[in-house]
Amino acid sequence: MTATPREVIRFQDKASLSRDAAYRFAALAAYRAATRRPFRVALAGGSTPALLYALLAAPPFREAIAWENVELFFGDDRCVPPDHSYSNFRMVNETLIRPLGLAGVRCHRFLGEMPDHAAAAREYEERLRTAFGATGCEAPRFDLILLGMGPDGHTASLFPHSPALNETSQLVTAAAPGLEPFVPRLTLTLPVLNSAENILFLVSGADKAATLARVLDGESDEQALPSQSVRPAAGGPIWLVDREAAAAL
Ligand code: 6PG
Repeated sequence: MTATPREVIRFQDKASLSRDAAYRFAALAAYRAATRRPFRVALAGGSTPALLYALLAAPPFREAIAWENVELFFGDDRCVPPDHSYSNFRMVNETLIRPLGLAGVRCHRFLGEMPDHAAAAREYEERLRTAFGATGCEAPRFDLILLGMGPDGHTASLFPHSPALNETSQLVTAAAPGLEPFVPRLTLTLPVLNSAENILFLVSGADKAATLARVLDGESDEQALPSQSVRPAAGGPIWLVDREAAAAL
C-alpha cells in the first residue's frame, strides 16, 4: 500500500493548533473505544505539546475521552529523574496525568533515572513488547504518535547524523543529546515511529521556520533532517504547524 502524501495544516497560533490536535486525539480515542480496543499513544516531549495536554485534561475533552481505554507511552525522554525540570514525564504528569488521575498501570514512562542508559532502553523495549504483545522483530503499532520537531530537524531524540537515527533492530535506544538540554536521552527508533497508524507533528514557533521549509520542501537529506525519515507505512504524517513556523513554506 503506498503511503498517502503527508498533509500540512496551518494554524494562526499554537492555541488553535493545539485545539485541532485535541479533537484529532479525541476522535481516534473514540474510534478505538467504539471498536473495544485500547488506544495506545506515544506522547511528545519538549514544550509545544504542553498546551494540548492541558486541553485534554480539561472539559470538554476530559469527559469526552474514555481515559480508561487509553494507554500512554512516551516517544522519548531525557535521562533524568521523573521530577527533574528536564523530564518530559514531569511535564506530561503536571499537564495531563495528575489532573486526570491517570497514574499507574496505563502510563509507561522511561526510567530516566537509571544510571545504565542501555539497560533503561532494554527495560522500555520489554515494556513495549509486553504491552503490545509484540514478538520477534515486529515493531509495536501505536494508534497515534505525537511528535515535535527541533530547530535542527530532529524528532523524538533522533538527532542529525546520530547512530540512533540508523538503529533498525532495537525498538528503543539510548541517544546522545544534539540540542539543549545536553543530557543523554532515551528514544523510540524509526521502525517504531514508522509502524504507527497515525502520526501528528506539532510544530510551533519562528525558530522552526527555516528548518520546516527544508524538511517539507527541500532536498531529501534524512541524516541532516531526521524528521524527513518519519514516513509511516500507514500514511502521513500530518503536520500541524502555526503561522510562525510556516513562514518559509
Ligand atoms: C524532547 C522532544 C523533542 C521535541 C522537539 C521540539 O525531548 O525535547 O521529544 O523531540 O519534540 O525538540 O520541542 P519544542 O516543541 O519544545 O519546540
